[in-house]
Amino acid sequence: MDFQLTEEHLMIQKAARDFAQMELLPGVIERDEHQKFPAEQIKKLGELGFLGMMVSPKYGGAGLDTISYVLAMEEISKIDASASVVMSVNNSLVCWGLETYGTEEQKQKYLVPLAKGEIIGAFLLSEPEAGSDATSQRTTAEDKGDHYLLNGTKNWITNGNSASVYLVMAQTHPEKGSKGINALIVEKNSPGVTVGAKENKLGIRGSDTHSIMFQDVIVPKENRIGEDGFGFKFAMKTLGGGRIGIASQALGIASGAYELAVKYSKERKAFGKEISQHQAIQFKLADMATKIEASRLLCLKAAWEKDHHLDYTLSGSMAKVFSSETAMWVTTEAVQVHGGYGYVKEYHVERLMRDAKITQIYEGTSEVQRIVISRSILA
Ligand code: CAA
Ligand code: FAD
Repeated sequence: MDFQLTEEHLMIQKAARDFAQMELLPGVIERDEHQKFPAEQIKKLGELGFLGMMVSPKYGGAGLDTISYVLAMEEISKIDASASVVMSVNNSLVCWGLETYGTEEQKQKYLVPLAKGEIIGAFLLSEPEAGSDATSQRTTAEDKGDHYLLNGTKNWITNGNSASVYLVMAQTHPEKGSKGINALIVEKNSPGVTVGAKENKLGIRGSDTHSIMFQDVIVPKENRIGEDGFGFKFAMKTLGGGRIGIASQALGIASGAYELAVKYSKERKAFGKEISQHQAIQFKLADMATKIEASRLLCLKAAWEKDHHLDYTLSGSMAKVFSSETAMWVTTEAVQVHGGYGYVKEYHVERLMRDAKITQIYEGTSEVQRIVISRSILA
């Protein structure tokens, strides 16, 4: 066992850290306040290879491992979780799914521009009446011979407006339940696709979350991913890696808030000394550092298992539930360490606290992660 990062890992970590400081930090408060999608920053992330990190260079990606991805996600999320969710969805849910299960034609047509960051993608599973209970899909993909006819509504879609390519899960054989679902590649500009209003959110306010409506959208058969009925397994397999991405996002939000709390505690004086000299503050910082380190180890273990082609479903869910609960707790404590200053925007920790909450909800709520974990340990 080796806990040391390689030279290459350290380089990627530094590149992501520098990018976050130089390109994401300026304007992050304004983007949050005005719900502004970080379009220019995402374009630059793409040019640097951060949107197709694990995709083979053969398909325009950076060909890096999942450990590198975790390290980069942590650094970007320390500063701007609205940017890192775009990165996570594009890397884990869209590029990985296409590279692993797509045909050569699908890869050439869609994966190459997605991995290069020329376009971004979205993953459409959730519906107004089916979130955690993802098999209860109502969107239908009717088999019409050489094409599918897509009808229905998907909810809460990250990158909903900015994506050019959607991976849509829809029911073709309702009588078969989860085995009747197909995963389809749908171009956003297809006739019959409508993007709903942008959601006005508590956190990750720079990311664009929309419902997407499909009315008689024609999707060619060659845009189906995998065999007929593979769509639910496709979604679950893809989300397995996605959960490592969101766990790393939560880790970054927590470590960003912790770094700010350490710095502030050494500057702020109360009762004649720096607040970092009060044991109550020291113990908070000690608990934050310990939980963050445990989160980091869980994220890296899940990433290591994925890189070694082991089953990472359990470790990914453990990493996600632990890191996201850590993020919520650490960011709340970071606001406390800042006192009243923590409650206003310019000190950043209130935004990190608001951003932390979503990591307990999307890509499977904490309760869903516990379902996955308990099923695995009891099996
Ligand atoms: N890998 C492969 N197959 C899997 C699987 C996995 N990890 N998990 C389940 N399956 C298969 C099962 O084996 C089963 O197939 P068989 O019938 O052939 O055995 C089939 O899928 C149905 O599985 P379950 O009976 O376990 O399904 P369930 O209805 O009990 O649901 C669940 C299980 C874990 C709760 C699942 O529905 C789930 O993960 N829900 C959460 C959905 C979610 O995470 N949504 C995220 C949307 S994307 C997003 O949020 C992006 C973002 O924010 C940025
Ligand atoms: P519900 O499933 O209705 O759950 C409500 C509550 O009940 C939760 O606490 C849940 O844990 C609990 N619960 C449900 N079932 C059980 C059970 N069996 N046991 C115990 N507790 C249970 N989806 C996409 O497909 N693509 C996206 O890009 C995407 N991005 C998102 C971005 C944002 C900002 C948000 C808010 C959501 C996004 N989602 C996306 C949707 C997200 O994945 C769902 O919101 C999530 O899976 C929960 O589903 P739900 O909202 O329907 O809640």
